[in-house]
Amino acid sequence: MAIVLLSMFGMLTAAAPTATGNAPSTGKGLYLANCNRCHGEDGNKRRWGAKDLRVSQLTDDAILHQIATGKGIMPAFERKLDPEQRALVMRYVKTLRVR
Ligand code: HEC
Repeated sequence: MAIVLLSMFGMLTAAAPTATGNAPSTGKGLYLANCNRCHGEDGNKRRWGAKDLRVSQLTDDAILHQIATGKGIMPAFERKLDPEQRALVMRYVKTLRVR
């Protein structure tokens, strides 16, 4: 059941910058703009009960789902971030994990 795509870790750093106006176009930029205030730069700020992303065990699909629909205090980002942006953030979040 644990379908953890470790091979995806490397993909983020290889993401080429794209010209999409002034919206952040990298996983890190999107994270800092949308997630940092609760999860913090290192993922362990835990503001308002935000889970520590360094020790999260969620699968890629579960992370994508939670980003889209939110959970508890965490808002849904379905309308704020498109699927491509949600995938970029998901990959970035996984790089915060302590391995
Ligand atoms: C307003 C504060 C807030 C913001 C902004 C926020 N989160 Fe969260 N996040 C939370 C809270 C609170 C939880 C715990 C939810 C629960 O389980 O009840 C959480 C949980 C998570 C989890 C699940 C971790 C686990 O192992 O269960 C992930 C992944 C996550 N957030 C990613 C993100 C990402 C990516 C963003 C930005 C797109 C984001 N969050 C923005 C508050 C926030």
